[in-house]
Amino acid sequence: MKNILVTGAAGFIGSNFVRRALKLKSDWRIVALDALTYAGNLENLKGLKESYKERYAFVKIDIRDKNGVFNLFKQEDFDGVIHFAAESHVDRSILGPLQFVETNVLGTVNLLEGARKFFKNEECRFLHISTDEVYGALGDKGAFTEETKIDPSSPYSASKAASDLFVLSYFKTYRLNCVITRCCNNYGPYQFPEKLIPFMIKRAIDGEPLPVYGDGRNVRDWIFVDDHNDGTILAFEKGNKGEIYNLGARCEKRNIDLVKLLIEKLKVFLKDRKGFKEPEIAFVKDRPGHDFRYAMDPSKAERELGFKPKVSFEEGIDLTVKWYIENEGWWRRIISGEYLEYIEKQYAKR
Ligand code: NAD
Ligand code: TYD
Repeated sequence: MKNILVTGAAGFIGSNFVRRALKLKSDWRIVALDALTYAGNLENLKGLKESYKERYAFVKIDIRDKNGVFNLFKQEDFDGVIHFAAESHVDRSILGPLQFVETNVLGTVNLLEGARKFFKNEECRFLHISTDEVYGALGDKGAFTEETKIDPSSPYSASKAASDLFVLSYFKTYRLNCVITRCCNNYGPYQFPEKLIPFMIKRAIDGEPLPVYGDGRNVRDWIFVDDHNDGTILAFEKGNKGEIYNLGARCEKRNIDLVKLLIEKLKVFLKDRKGFKEPEIAFVKDRPGHDFRYAMDPSKAERELGFKPKVSFEEGIDLTVKWYIENEGWWRRIISGEYLEYIEKQYAKR
């Protein structure tokens, strides 16, 4: 049995990862770590202890707490770390960057130190989950490769780029067995309703206008969360030490087209719901430093890892919209005091 630490396990991608990995990898025991910030939710991991018993454990630890991290490494004798934990929302990083430095940079270095000091041999692997946003913005043409210069625009992407550089330095300096994946925008069940897709679904259901930043022509490259997580497992098992792998599904959409598609889907799925009205789009003040376009070239992961996304955008969007409709209780329980304060700060004066 391999003993794997998964950080950020109660968040969107992390919780989908833990569920999927426990199902697919019967020789893995997973220690799911999370600090349970506003974005972490134990409900996302519900039922796993009952289903997987000793193959699953949850620990509440903040990765900014070096002693907490070190004690866990001492106790557990990990064979690997898959590091998802992060402050992940660009708009929040613009409102308050410091937390992003603390968790994304310092927290990552605490985990790297834990791995350096306590991994028993060089087979033990540290997989760092990063993002296409470290490359900055593209114009109308081209796509990011692993050779593209990092050029982050937001405090979020700057903190992720800094953490990537620390991971690479641990490979170069200490020969720690590190791999980095950089993925494009994810969507799917359990995404916190501040990110574009679940936010628009929530607003549409609640009859609120849909705030599109700028003219809506910015482009994002989308992947269904399970496809990202399959790529994560491949990179963990087959990636070469010290290498970076871009993950993506070659699925670019302009924000405005995506929002219009969501409206069409909701109109179909909610046609019988009493009081549901066609949502209105409101063009609002642009995000400062808003990257124009992201597009990933995943050729290296396809070639070297056998990475191949399986879920089409049409299929994934239908599944996601239906999930948010059927799991209204899940997101209603999240939109509490802190959420409302954030929405007020972010959208009230736009
Ligand atoms: P999320 O915000 O939904 O989840 C992050 C999780 O990390 C939460 O459960 C939170 O409680 C936990 N966390 C935050 N600070 C912590 C701390 N100090 N100690 C321990 N846990 C802490 O984010 P997500 O969308 O699931 O993203 C997961 C990872 O994937 C991040 O590293 C992010 O940069 C990366 N990523 C995300 C996307 C995307 O589209 N969402 C795309 C590419 C890469
Ligand atoms: P987001 O989900 O925040 O992801 P990221 O900025 O990390 O790519 O936003 C996706 C795109 O949608 C981005 O171009 C900003 C835009 N956007 C809006 O137009 N309105 C919104 O209310 C939000 C949250 C995002």
